[in-house]
Amino acid sequence: MSKLTVCGPNILCGSVAISGSKNAALPILISTLLLNGESKIANVPELTDIVTTIRLLRSLGLKAEFSNHVVHVWGTRDIRHIAPYELITNMRASFLVSGPILARVGFAKVPYPGGCAIGSRPVDIHLKGFRAFGIDIRVEHGFVILKSDGPIRGSRYNLEFPSVGATENLMMMASLAQGVSILKNVAREPEIEDLANFLNQAGAKIEGAGTDTLRIEGVNQLNAIEYTVIPDRIEAATFLCVAAITRGDVILEQVNVEHIQDIIQILMRVGFKLTIMDPRTVRIQTDGKALKGVTVKTEPFPGFSTDNQAILMAVLALINQKKSVMIENIFENRYMHVMELKRMGAMIDVTGSKATIHGVDHLSGTAVKMMDLRGGAALLLAALAADGETILYNIHHIQRGYDHIVRKLRLLGAKVE
Ligand code: UD1
Repeated sequence: MSKLTVCGPNILCGSVAISGSKNAALPILISTLLLNGESKIANVPELTDIVTTIRLLRSLGLKAEFSNHVVHVWGTRDIRHIAPYELITNMRASFLVSGPILARVGFAKVPYPGGCAIGSRPVDIHLKGFRAFGIDIRVEHGFVILKSDGPIRGSRYNLEFPSVGATENLMMMASLAQGVSILKNVAREPEIEDLANFLNQAGAKIEGAGTDTLRIEGVNQLNAIEYTVIPDRIEAATFLCVAAITRGDVILEQVNVEHIQDIIQILMRVGFKLTIMDPRTVRIQTDGKALKGVTVKTEPFPGFSTDNQAILMAVLALINQKKSVMIENIFENRYMHVMELKRMGAMIDVTGSKATIHGVDHLSGTAVKMMDLRGGAALLLAALAADGETILYNIHHIQRGYDHIVRKLRLLGAKVE
Protein backbone atom coordinates (compact mmCIF):
# COMPACT_ATOMS: atom_id res chain seq x y z
CA MET A 1 0.00 0.00 0.00
CA SER A 2 1.57 3.32 -1.01
CA LYS A 3 -1.25 5.86 -0.97
CA LEU A 4 -4.59 6.50 0.69
CA THR A 5 -7.65 8.14 -0.81
CA VAL A 6 -10.02 9.87 1.59
CA CYS A 7 -13.44 11.22 0.65
CA GLY A 8 -14.59 13.93 3.00
CA PRO A 9 -15.97 15.56 4.90
CA ASN A 10 -16.93 12.83 7.34
CA ILE A 11 -18.35 13.18 10.85
CA LEU A 12 -16.71 10.33 12.73
CA CYS A 13 -18.66 8.62 15.50
CA GLY A 14 -18.39 5.44 17.53
CA SER A 15 -15.86 3.68 19.77
CA VAL A 16 -12.24 2.91 19.15
CA ALA A 17 -9.86 0.75 21.17
CA ILE A 18 -6.42 2.29 21.58
CA SER A 19 -3.45 -0.01 20.97
CA GLY A 20 -0.28 -0.48 22.98
CA SER A 21 2.31 2.28 22.98
CA LYS A 22 4.91 2.24 20.20
CA ASN A 23 7.31 4.41 22.16
CA ALA A 24 7.02 2.16 25.24
CA ALA A 25 7.16 -1.12 23.31
CA LEU A 26 10.34 -0.19 21.39
CA PRO A 27 12.65 0.25 24.42
CA ILE A 28 10.98 -2.64 26.27
CA LEU A 29 11.67 -4.97 23.35
CA ILE A 30 15.24 -3.69 23.11
CA SER A 31 15.74 -4.20 26.84
CA THR A 32 15.14 -7.94 26.39
CA LEU A 33 18.80 -7.94 25.26
CA LEU A 34 19.48 -7.70 29.02
CA LEU A 35 17.29 -10.65 30.03
CA ASN A 36 17.77 -14.40 30.24
CA GLY A 37 15.03 -16.80 29.11
CA GLU A 38 11.66 -16.47 27.37
CA SER A 39 9.65 -13.28 27.88
CA LYS A 40 6.12 -12.66 26.70
CA ILE A 41 5.25 -9.04 25.95
CA ALA A 42 1.60 -8.28 25.27
CA ASN A 43 -0.27 -5.26 23.86
CA VAL A 44 2.48 -4.61 21.31
CA PRO A 45 1.14 -2.53 18.39
CA GLU A 46 1.35 -3.99 14.89
CA LEU A 47 3.37 -1.43 12.97
CA THR A 48 6.57 -1.28 10.97
CA ASP A 49 8.81 0.20 13.70
CA ILE A 50 8.05 -2.85 15.85
CA VAL A 51 8.81 -5.19 12.96
CA THR A 52 12.13 -3.37 12.43
CA THR A 53 12.93 -3.76 16.15
CA ILE A 54 12.23 -7.49 16.05
CA ARG A 55 14.52 -7.85 13.03
CA LEU A 56 17.16 -5.92 14.96
CA LEU A 57 16.86 -8.23 17.99
CA ARG A 58 17.16 -11.28 15.72
CA SER A 59 20.23 -9.81 14.03
CA LEU A 60 21.81 -9.50 17.48
CA GLY A 61 21.23 -13.19 18.23
CA LEU A 62 17.85 -13.28 19.97
CA LYS A 63 14.98 -15.49 18.90
CA ALA A 64 11.73 -13.50 18.63
CA GLU A 65 8.20 -14.14 17.35
CA PHE A 66 5.38 -11.64 16.88
CA SER A 67 1.72 -12.39 16.34
CA ASN A 68 -1.64 -11.08 17.59
CA HIS A 69 -0.01 -8.16 19.39
CA VAL A 70 2.20 -10.49 21.46
CA VAL A 71 5.96 -10.80 21.20
CA HIS A 72 7.75 -13.88 22.52
CA VAL A 73 11.45 -13.26 22.85
CA TRP A 74 14.20 -15.52 24.11
CA GLY A 75 17.00 -13.61 25.88
CA THR A 76 20.54 -14.97 25.93
CA ARG A 77 23.97 -13.94 27.21
CA ASP A 78 25.32 -14.87 23.84
CA ILE A 79 24.46 -11.68 21.91
CA ARG A 80 26.35 -10.13 19.03
CA HIS A 81 27.93 -6.76 19.62
CA ILE A 82 27.63 -5.32 16.08
CA ALA A 83 24.32 -3.78 15.05
CA PRO A 84 23.48 -3.77 11.31
CA TYR A 85 23.61 -0.46 9.46
CA GLU A 86 20.26 -0.60 7.66
CA LEU A 87 18.23 -1.31 10.81
CA ILE A 88 19.84 1.42 12.91
CA THR A 89 19.71 4.13 10.28
CA ASN A 90 16.07 3.29 9.43
CA MET A 91 14.86 3.99 12.91
CA ARG A 92 16.51 6.29 15.40
CA ALA A 93 15.27 4.37 18.44
CA SER A 94 17.52 1.48 17.32
CA PHE A 95 20.47 3.34 18.85
CA LEU A 96 19.01 2.18 22.18
CA VAL A 97 20.68 -1.20 21.63
CA SER A 98 24.03 0.37 22.56
CA GLY A 99 23.34 0.50 26.34
CA PRO A 100 22.16 -3.13 26.62
CA ILE A 101 24.96 -4.48 24.39
CA LEU A 102 27.52 -2.62 26.50
CA ALA A 103 26.00 -3.98 29.70
CA ARG A 104 26.12 -7.55 28.38
CA VAL A 105 29.33 -7.64 26.32
CA GLY A 106 31.32 -4.56 27.42
CA PHE A 107 31.87 -3.69 23.78
CA ALA A 108 29.42 -2.40 21.14
CA LYS A 109 29.71 -1.32 17.53
CA VAL A 110 26.60 0.59 16.49
CA PRO A 111 26.12 2.66 13.31
CA TYR A 112 26.00 6.40 13.99
CA PRO A 113 22.30 7.22 13.55
CA GLY A 114 21.62 9.36 10.49
CA GLY A 115 19.83 12.69 10.38
CA CYS A 116 16.10 12.66 10.48
CA ALA A 117 13.38 14.63 8.79
CA ILE A 118 12.18 16.36 11.97
CA GLY A 119 15.58 17.62 13.06
CA SER A 120 19.24 16.75 13.40
CA ARG A 121 18.51 14.59 16.48
CA PRO A 122 22.08 13.98 17.70
CA VAL A 123 23.04 11.34 20.27
CA ASP A 124 25.57 13.47 22.16
CA ILE A 125 23.67 13.16 25.45
CA HIS A 126 23.67 9.35 25.20
CA LEU A 127 27.42 9.40 24.51
CA LYS A 128 28.30 11.88 27.29
CA GLY A 129 26.32 9.66 29.63
CA PHE A 130 28.27 6.57 28.57
CA ARG A 131 31.53 8.48 29.08
CA ALA A 132 30.45 9.29 32.65
CA PHE A 133 30.37 5.50 33.16
CA GLY A 134 33.98 5.20 31.96
CA ILE A 135 33.10 3.96 28.47
CA ASP A 136 35.66 4.74 25.79
CA ILE A 137 33.99 6.08 22.63
CA ARG A 138 35.32 6.41 19.08
CA VAL A 139 33.64 6.93 15.73
CA GLU A 140 35.17 4.87 12.91
CA HIS A 141 33.86 4.16 9.44
CA GLY A 142 30.40 5.41 10.41
CA PHE A 143 30.20 3.24 13.52
CA VAL A 144 30.19 4.39 17.14
CA ILE A 145 32.55 2.03 18.94
CA LEU A 146 31.90 1.82 22.66
CA LYS A 147 34.22 -0.09 24.94
CA SER A 148 34.51 -0.67 28.64
CA ASP A 149 37.78 -1.76 30.27
CA GLY A 150 36.50 -4.32 32.73
CA PRO A 151 33.08 -4.41 34.37
CA ILE A 152 30.94 -1.27 34.06
CA ARG A 153 30.65 0.50 37.40
CA GLY A 154 27.70 2.57 38.57
CA SER A 155 28.16 6.31 38.18
CA ARG A 156 26.44 9.71 38.37
CA TYR A 157 25.35 11.73 35.38
CA ASN A 158 23.34 14.91 35.00
CA LEU A 159 21.66 15.04 31.57
CA GLU A 160 21.92 18.50 29.98
CA PHE A 161 18.41 17.99 28.56
CA PRO A 162 15.86 15.33 29.60
CA SER A 163 16.26 13.27 26.43
CA VAL A 164 13.86 10.33 26.36
CA GLY A 165 16.21 8.08 24.40
CA ALA A 166 19.32 8.93 26.46
CA THR A 167 17.42 8.28 29.71
CA GLU A 168 16.33 4.86 28.42
CA ASN A 169 19.75 3.92 27.08
CA LEU A 170 21.56 4.81 30.32
CA MET A 171 18.89 3.26 32.52
CA MET A 172 19.22 -0.06 30.67
CA MET A 173 22.99 -0.08 30.93
CA ALA A 174 23.02 0.94 34.61
CA SER A 175 20.61 -1.89 35.50
CA LEU A 176 23.43 -4.42 35.04
CA ALA A 177 26.33 -2.18 36.18
CA GLN A 178 28.18 -2.80 39.44
CA GLY A 179 26.98 -0.57 42.29
CA VAL A 180 24.66 2.41 42.38
CA SER A 181 24.04 4.93 39.60
CA ILE A 182 22.32 8.28 39.95
CA LEU A 183 20.91 9.89 36.80
CA LYS A 184 19.67 13.47 37.14
CA ASN A 185 17.48 15.66 34.93
CA VAL A 186 16.11 12.53 33.27
CA ALA A 187 12.98 12.39 31.10
CA ARG A 188 9.73 11.82 33.00
CA GLU A 189 7.60 10.47 30.14
CA PRO A 190 5.20 7.57 30.91
CA GLU A 191 7.25 5.40 28.53
CA ILE A 192 10.24 5.78 30.88
CA GLU A 193 8.11 4.56 33.78
CA ASP A 194 6.90 1.63 31.70
CA LEU A 195 10.47 0.61 30.86
CA ALA A 196 11.47 0.92 34.54
CA ASN A 197 8.45 -1.18 35.59
CA PHE A 198 9.37 -3.82 33.03
CA LEU A 199 13.01 -3.96 34.17
CA ASN A 200 12.05 -3.95 37.86
CA GLN A 201 9.72 -6.90 37.31
CA ALA A 202 12.64 -8.65 35.61
CA GLY A 203 14.74 -8.08 38.76
CA ALA A 204 16.25 -4.60 38.32
CA LYS A 205 16.36 -2.07 41.17
CA ILE A 206 15.31 1.25 39.66
CA GLU A 207 13.76 3.97 41.81
CA GLY A 208 12.40 7.36 40.82
CA ALA A 209 10.93 6.66 37.36
CA GLY A 210 8.47 9.47 36.61
CA THR A 211 10.58 11.98 38.57
CA ASP A 212 13.67 13.82 37.34
CA THR A 213 16.13 11.59 39.23
CA LEU A 214 16.72 7.88 38.87
CA ARG A 215 18.56 5.76 41.43
CA ILE A 216 19.61 2.46 39.95
CA GLU A 217 21.26 -0.27 41.97
CA GLY A 218 22.93 -2.65 39.54
CA VAL A 219 22.05 -6.35 39.73
CA ASN A 220 23.89 -9.41 38.41
CA GLN A 221 21.17 -10.64 36.12
CA LEU A 222 17.67 -9.98 34.83
CA ASN A 223 15.18 -12.73 34.17
CA ALA A 224 12.40 -13.26 31.67
CA ILE A 225 8.88 -12.09 32.54
CA GLU A 226 5.39 -11.59 31.14
CA TYR A 227 4.44 -7.96 30.68
CA THR A 228 1.72 -5.79 29.13
CA VAL A 229 2.70 -2.51 27.44
CA ILE A 230 0.86 0.72 28.38
CA PRO A 231 -1.69 2.29 25.99
CA ASP A 232 -0.37 4.57 23.25
CA ARG A 233 -0.96 8.16 24.37
CA ILE A 234 -0.11 9.57 20.94
CA GLU A 235 -2.58 7.30 19.16
CA ALA A 236 -5.18 8.33 21.76
CA ALA A 237 -4.46 12.01 21.13
CA THR A 238 -4.75 11.36 17.39
CA PHE A 239 -8.23 9.84 17.74
CA LEU A 240 -9.34 12.71 20.00
CA CYS A 241 -8.21 15.05 17.22
CA VAL A 242 -9.96 12.89 14.58
CA ALA A 243 -13.22 13.43 16.47
CA ALA A 244 -12.47 17.12 17.03
CA ILE A 245 -11.62 17.99 13.43
CA THR A 246 -14.67 16.14 12.05
CA ARG A 247 -16.93 17.51 14.84
CA GLY A 248 -17.73 13.90 15.68
CA ASP A 249 -18.54 11.96 18.84
CA VAL A 250 -16.00 9.29 19.72
CA ILE A 251 -15.39 7.10 22.77
CA LEU A 252 -11.79 6.02 23.25
CA GLU A 253 -11.35 2.77 25.13
CA GLN A 254 -8.24 1.25 26.69
CA VAL A 255 -6.48 4.54 27.27
CA ASN A 256 -4.66 5.79 30.36
CA VAL A 257 -6.45 9.07 31.04
CA GLU A 258 -3.56 10.33 33.21
CA HIS A 259 -1.16 10.08 30.26
CA ILE A 260 -3.29 12.19 27.89
CA GLN A 261 -4.05 15.14 30.12
CA ASP A 262 -2.03 17.48 27.87
CA ILE A 263 -4.31 17.02 24.86
CA ILE A 264 -7.50 16.70 26.95
CA GLN A 265 -6.88 20.06 28.66
CA ILE A 266 -6.13 21.85 25.38
CA LEU A 267 -9.14 20.43 23.53
CA MET A 268 -11.36 21.49 26.46
CA ARG A 269 -9.87 24.98 26.28
CA VAL A 270 -10.68 25.08 22.57
CA GLY A 271 -14.29 24.26 23.49
CA PHE A 272 -14.78 20.54 22.85
CA LYS A 273 -16.65 18.51 25.47
CA LEU A 274 -14.53 15.79 27.04
CA THR A 275 -15.96 13.32 29.52
CA ILE A 276 -13.77 10.97 31.52
CA MET A 277 -16.04 7.94 31.80
CA ASP A 278 -13.52 5.93 33.85
CA PRO A 279 -9.68 5.90 34.12
CA ARG A 280 -9.46 3.95 30.84
CA THR A 281 -12.28 5.55 28.83
CA VAL A 282 -12.80 9.06 27.53
CA ARG A 283 -15.46 10.55 25.26
CA ILE A 284 -15.14 13.60 23.05
CA GLN A 285 -18.08 15.52 21.58
CA THR A 286 -18.82 18.86 20.00
CA ASP A 287 -21.68 20.37 21.94
CA GLY A 288 -22.40 23.42 19.79
CA LYS A 289 -20.31 25.76 21.96
CA ALA A 290 -18.28 28.36 20.02
CA LEU A 291 -14.72 27.13 19.55
CA LYS A 292 -11.71 29.28 20.46
CA GLY A 293 -8.13 29.64 19.28
CA VAL A 294 -5.35 28.77 21.73
CA THR A 295 -1.63 29.27 22.30
CA VAL A 296 0.29 26.05 22.88
CA LYS A 297 3.97 25.28 23.39
CA THR A 298 5.54 21.85 23.26
CA GLU A 299 7.54 20.73 26.29
CA PRO A 300 8.88 17.57 27.90
CA PHE A 301 6.24 15.55 29.82
CA PRO A 302 3.98 16.53 31.57
CA GLY A 303 3.89 19.54 29.22
CA PHE A 304 2.19 19.43 25.82
CA SER A 305 3.85 16.67 23.78
CA THR A 306 5.73 17.51 20.58
CA ASP A 307 4.22 14.34 19.11
CA ASN A 308 0.76 15.93 19.37
CA GLN A 309 1.76 19.24 17.80
CA ALA A 310 0.95 18.44 14.15
CA ILE A 311 -2.37 16.72 14.81
CA LEU A 312 -3.57 19.55 17.05
CA MET A 313 -2.50 22.04 14.40
CA ALA A 314 -4.79 20.36 11.88
CA VAL A 315 -7.70 20.82 14.31
CA LEU A 316 -6.83 24.48 14.98
CA ALA A 317 -6.55 25.18 11.25
CA LEU A 318 -10.29 24.51 10.94
CA ILE A 319 -11.55 26.79 13.71
CA ASN A 320 -13.00 29.52 11.59
CA GLN A 321 -11.79 33.08 12.17
CA LYS A 322 -9.85 32.12 15.30
CA LYS A 323 -6.14 32.65 15.65
CA SER A 324 -3.95 30.08 17.40
CA VAL A 325 -0.23 30.02 18.08
CA MET A 326 1.98 26.96 18.30
CA ILE A 327 5.55 27.02 19.60
CA GLU A 328 7.68 23.93 18.93
CA ASN A 329 10.39 23.75 21.58
CA ILE A 330 11.63 20.17 21.20
CA PHE A 331 12.52 19.62 17.53
CA GLU A 332 13.86 22.25 15.15
CA ASN A 333 12.15 21.09 11.95
CA ARG A 334 8.80 19.70 12.90
CA TYR A 335 6.58 21.87 10.70
CA MET A 336 6.88 19.96 7.42
CA HIS A 337 3.14 19.27 7.40
CA VAL A 338 2.43 23.01 7.22
CA MET A 339 3.15 23.39 3.50
CA GLU A 340 0.83 20.50 2.68
CA LEU A 341 -1.92 21.75 5.01
CA LYS A 342 -1.68 25.09 3.20
CA ARG A 343 -2.21 23.32 -0.10
CA MET A 344 -5.52 22.14 1.37
CA GLY A 345 -6.48 25.72 2.19
CA ALA A 346 -5.13 26.16 5.73
CA MET A 347 -3.69 29.57 6.64
CA ILE A 348 -0.55 29.08 8.69
CA ASP A 349 2.56 31.26 8.94
CA VAL A 350 5.77 29.83 10.31
CA THR A 351 8.62 31.91 11.70
CA GLY A 352 11.33 29.81 13.33
CA SER A 353 9.76 27.71 16.05
CA LYS A 354 6.49 29.68 16.00
CA ALA A 355 3.48 28.83 13.82
CA THR A 356 0.53 31.21 13.68
CA ILE A 357 -2.66 29.51 12.59
CA HIS A 358 -5.53 31.58 11.19
CA GLY A 359 -8.53 29.26 11.28
CA VAL A 360 -10.55 28.85 8.08
CA ASP A 361 -14.11 27.58 7.51
CA HIS A 362 -13.19 24.71 5.24
CA LEU A 363 -10.31 22.73 3.74
CA SER A 364 -10.43 21.16 0.31
CA GLY A 365 -9.08 17.84 -0.88
CA THR A 366 -6.04 17.55 -3.13
CA ALA A 367 -2.94 15.35 -3.46
CA VAL A 368 -0.56 15.73 -0.50
CA LYS A 369 2.67 14.09 0.62
CA MET A 370 3.38 12.81 4.09
CA MET A 371 6.87 13.85 5.20
CA ASP A 372 7.05 12.26 8.67
CA LEU A 373 4.97 10.17 11.05
CA ARG A 374 2.96 12.68 13.08
CA GLY A 375 2.87 15.29 10.32
CA GLY A 376 1.48 12.54 8.10
CA ALA A 377 -1.26 11.87 10.65
CA ALA A 378 -2.11 15.59 10.63
CA LEU A 379 -2.66 15.43 6.86
CA LEU A 380 -4.88 12.38 7.26
CA LEU A 381 -6.97 14.26 9.82
CA ALA A 382 -7.26 17.24 7.52
CA ALA A 383 -8.34 14.91 4.69
CA LEU A 384 -11.16 13.48 6.82
CA ALA A 385 -12.56 16.98 7.31
CA ALA A 386 -11.80 18.41 3.86
CA ASP A 387 -14.33 18.76 1.04
CA GLY A 388 -13.88 16.18 -1.71
CA GLU A 389 -11.13 13.72 -2.40
CA THR A 390 -7.65 13.84 -0.86
CA ILE A 391 -4.91 11.53 -2.04
CA LEU A 392 -2.21 10.97 0.57
CA TYR A 393 1.20 9.79 -0.62
CA ASN A 394 4.13 8.32 1.34
CA ILE A 395 1.88 6.55 3.80
CA HIS A 396 4.76 4.38 4.99
CA HIS A 397 5.32 7.23 7.47
CA ILE A 398 2.05 6.58 9.31
CA GLN A 399 2.48 2.82 9.01
CA ARG A 400 5.58 3.25 11.20
CA GLY A 401 3.48 4.40 14.14
CA TYR A 402 -0.24 3.58 13.85
CA ASP A 403 -1.73 0.15 14.44
CA HIS A 404 -4.41 -0.65 11.81
CA ILE A 405 -5.34 3.00 11.41
CA VAL A 406 -7.37 2.55 8.24
CA ARG A 407 -9.47 -0.19 9.79
CA LYS A 408 -10.07 1.89 12.92
CA LEU A 409 -11.04 4.99 10.95
CA ARG A 410 -13.45 3.01 8.77
CA LEU A 411 -15.17 1.65 11.89
CA LEU A 412 -15.81 5.27 12.88
CA GLY A 413 -17.35 5.96 9.47
CA ALA A 414 -14.42 7.34 7.47
CA LYS A 415 -14.34 6.82 3.72
CA VAL A 416 -10.74 5.71 3.29
CA GLU A 417 -9.43 3.52 0.52
C1 UD1 B 1 11.34 10.20 21.77
C2 UD1 B 1 10.13 9.68 21.06
C3 UD1 B 1 9.56 10.74 20.12
C4 UD1 B 1 9.32 12.04 20.88
C5 UD1 B 1 10.58 12.47 21.63
C6 UD1 B 1 10.35 13.69 22.51
C7 UD1 B 1 10.55 7.32 20.92
C8 UD1 B 1 10.85 6.14 20.05
N1 UD1 B 1 10.48 8.49 20.32
O1 UD1 B 1 12.34 10.44 20.77
O2 UD1 B 1 8.33 10.26 19.58
O3 UD1 B 1 8.94 13.05 19.97
O4 UD1 B 1 11.03 11.40 22.47
O5 UD1 B 1 9.36 13.44 23.44
O6 UD1 B 1 10.33 7.18 22.11
N2 UD1 B 1 18.73 15.47 21.66
C9 UD1 B 1 20.05 15.90 21.62
N3 UD1 B 1 21.04 15.01 21.94
C10 UD1 B 1 20.75 13.72 22.32
C11 UD1 B 1 19.42 13.31 22.35
C12 UD1 B 1 18.43 14.19 22.02
O7 UD1 B 1 20.33 17.06 21.30
O8 UD1 B 1 21.70 12.96 22.59
C13 UD1 B 1 17.66 16.42 21.27
C14 UD1 B 1 16.92 15.92 20.03
O9 UD1 B 1 17.57 16.30 18.85
C15 UD1 B 1 15.57 16.59 20.20
C16 UD1 B 1 15.37 16.60 21.73
O10 UD1 B 1 16.67 16.44 22.29
O11 UD1 B 1 15.62 17.90 19.71
C17 UD1 B 1 14.46 15.49 22.24
O12 UD1 B 1 15.02 14.24 21.88
P1 UD1 B 1 14.73 12.90 22.72
O13 UD1 B 1 13.97 13.24 23.96
O14 UD1 B 1 16.01 12.16 22.85
O15 UD1 B 1 13.77 12.15 21.72
P2 UD1 B 1 13.87 10.67 21.18
O16 UD1 B 1 14.22 9.74 22.29
O17 UD1 B 1 14.64 10.63 19.93
